[in-house]
Amino acid sequence: MARQGMVMVDGVAIRAAEAKVDPESVKITVGGELMNYRRYTWVMLNKPSGYLSATEDGGGETVLDLLPQDLRRQGLFPVGRLDKDTEGLLLLTNEGGLAHALLSPKRHVDKVYYTRTAGQLVEEDCRAFSEGLVLGDGLHCQPAKLEILLSGEESEALVTLREGKFHQVKRMLEARGKPVLYLERIQMGTLLLDQSLSRGSFRFLTEEEIAELHALV
Ligand code: URA
Repeated sequence: MARQGMVMVDGVAIRAAEAKVDPESVKITVGGELMNYRRYTWVMLNKPSGYLSATEDGGGETVLDLLPQDLRRQGLFPVGRLDKDTEGLLLLTNEGGLAHALLSPKRHVDKVYYTRTAGQLVEEDCRAFSEGLVLGDGLHCQPAKLEILLSGEESEALVTLREGKFHQVKRMLEARGKPVLYLERIQMGTLLLDQSLSRGSFRFLTEEEIAELHALV
């Protein structure tokens, strides 16, 4: 396309495909269409159960298998992990610095999970969460929020955490004797899981959403 004169940089056809330009300070059009340059890519995925939050499979399917080939080539990785059977909001990006900051417990970025548990959740469980649970293996959890939505033989609740240790929600509820039957992340910082995304589908974050993530950290 460059050789055919279709690629214009600031209105000048650039015929050498190897030409280097600063994409942040020039206007590039291809066939008259303005190219929107994005240094980093941010994707919100509605993760289905059955996919590993990893970039390489050890035989199983990873969340990257849910993205088209051209996106997979951009070096995207999941921002934190959801368990294989956990569903919902998973961000993928190639912007390492911001991804790292969002995961740091020091930055206080809330992650909100919807869960269904076996056993009856009661106020005493909420108090234990807010005081900071100590798990069976001695792990001290930071204070977390448990909001009961439905209390019965099976219960439903929202859990808000600022850290993300291995299997944390499951281990915290297990420690209260209410094992998790189902887990879905519905929020991360300022981002809510987009209800228009069906399971397994994704969309790009908007510029505003990315700016909000930056502002968080
Ligand atoms: N806590 C868990 O136990 N599992 C997840 O996937 C996320 C948080």
